[in-house]
Amino acid sequence: MTHDAIAVIDFGGQYAHLIATKVRRLHVLAEIRQPEDPIDAFRGYRGLILSGSPSFSSFGEDSGYTKAIYDLDVPILGFCFGHQEMAKHYGGTVVHGGREWGPADLQVIAECPLFAGLGRTERVWMSHFDSVTSVGPGFHEVGYTTLGEGGAPHRFAAIANESLRRYGFQYHPEVDDTVHGSEMIANFVFGVCGCQPSWTMERYVEERIEQVRQQVGDQSVFLLASGGVDSTVAARLLGMAIGADRLHLLHVDNGLMRKDESRAVLETFAAFGLDRNLHFIDASDTFLAALAGVVEPEQKRTIIGNAFIEVFEREAKRLGIEGHLLGQGTIYPDTIETGGTKRADTIKTHHNRVPVIERMIEQGRVIEPLADLYKVEVRELGEKLGIAHSLIWRHPFPGPGLGVRLLCSSGAEARDGFDEIEPTVAEVARRYGVGAMALPIKSVGVKADLRSYEHPVLISGDAPWERLLELAAAIFKGVAGINRCIWNLGPSAPARVRPLAATVTRERLDLLREADARVMDGLRRHRIYDDIWQCPTALVPLEVDGTGREFVVVRPIHSERAMTATPASLPAALIAELREQILSLPGVSGLALDITTKPPGTIEWE
Ligand code: XMP
Repeated sequence: MTHDAIAVIDFGGQYAHLIATKVRRLHVLAEIRQPEDPIDAFRGYRGLILSGSPSFSSFGEDSGYTKAIYDLDVPILGFCFGHQEMAKHYGGTVVHGGREWGPADLQVIAECPLFAGLGRTERVWMSHFDSVTSVGPGFHEVGYTTLGEGGAPHRFAAIANESLRRYGFQYHPEVDDTVHGSEMIANFVFGVCGCQPSWTMERYVEERIEQVRQQVGDQSVFLLASGGVDSTVAARLLGMAIGADRLHLLHVDNGLMRKDESRAVLETFAAFGLDRNLHFIDASDTFLAALAGVVEPEQKRTIIGNAFIEVFEREAKRLGIEGHLLGQGTIYPDTIETGGTKRADTIKTHHNRVPVIERMIEQGRVIEPLADLYKVEVRELGEKLGIAHSLIWRHPFPGPGLGVRLLCSSGAEARDGFDEIEPTVAEVARRYGVGAMALPIKSVGVKADLRSYEHPVLISGDAPWERLLELAAAIFKGVAGINRCIWNLGPSAPARVRPLAATVTRERLDLLREADARVMDGLRRHRIYDDIWQCPTALVPLEVDGTGREFVVVRPIHSERAMTATPASLPAALIAELREQILSLPGVSGLALDITTKPPGTIEWE
């Protein structure tokens, strides 16, 4: 090995590759290893990091890994499941309970090299059902967490055994929301493991171009180009590797685009000189026909992914493009959320990871030059490749587009668990001086690396932004079966809400396009577009006033890698405008702002 390196053992947690990315950002090589790899695969590293997992340590799930790693004389650091497994291995106990989602405050109570240069209280990020309740001989508690003022302590959030150089964090230092997480990882990598920084992004670009040339050989590439950041950076990188002549771009209007989006995309490609072999097809009829009558979110996602391939193959034939690979701007979260690594749970099937594409990948017919990067790295790469700032910093737009923002329903009420949920939600909200009701519908979320499909809670009443976020966190912590909180912007708290039967139709899409256009326009006019990472607008088939009209939810978030997110506040003047503009759209009767962190919600509702 020419570089000092760290091995990240991937137990299937949503953030395992993010750990590797965070280490590489420190210019230290990080490689992913599987838990059952033979012990020799773990030799030669300066340190090991154990990732989180969708498995439960308390139930002994996934405990059959190569335990001989603990005999290696190198430092080991465990996060979440990795922390629990390490505690258990050395004689501690882990129980199923003590769940925490999102932010918590770590109180550091002992000296530890991993906290060198940091404060006694650190904001950290949680996503767990299981907890460590005692540690074995030689280990001690370095910190515990609390939530909000006067919150009960959560013990053993950070543990250490200095003589063995074993450390564990219940929280996730690898996510950006752990404010000094990178410093904690750097303290491990440099301070404890003694690594030298020698790995760079320039090296990455050179290696990637070489890999693309080898994979493509003398074939051509036909790239699905949505006009978003990822496919545009992929187009530039592929162009550099194989030349513009052998690169064809296909932009598909799937009927699920934003208002006037396809026209703008084609103009942008032309402006950036990427229109040499650019093809366009309006395939909205194909997509809408395939989606007709479908309600279930995963089914919608699969149908959209399949329709892309159907259109792609039809167009390749029509244009006479032969001997080509399918190019996609897939990035890492698309793979991990689709359950695309060995142990990861399927949170949602991304459009570029449906089974038909998985089969094409196995056959070597797909090229995805960005597949191990996160959005922030794609943007960094795009800047290095000279792509215009305005394109690189556009808000991400998902491949299935408005298809995952247009919620559908059979009209049946989902009220499972409501006997317990309703009184508990009302009781928590009362403490904050507002009203709250669980909604009889469901949306997708992610909890402790597992997919959740649970109820949102609608909060009505006025409270300062920080208090609202605290209330949401208290609801997630105190009430099972809830993965989302939204704040009512309508004039009053609804007395009764009811799901409406609704599927994907052009009329509903047009209504959503209109609402979305107003939100985007508002963000730009109020000059906060660049401060916000993404702002989905969802149309939810829920009536709040008995008139059969739908509900709109706006979800402004801050994020860096989409693996976690925090809700972004909007200026009062913009909220007032949105109230006026969106509530006056024919077909809309309610409006709310999503105030959910990820986890436990995901960014998109489906
Ligand atoms: P979630 O909803 O999983 O979204 O928190 C994370 C990020 O991924 C985007 N997203 C997708 N992007 N194909 C994509 O290209 C997809 O199928 C897809 N689903 C979600 C989402 O907009 C957010 O930025």
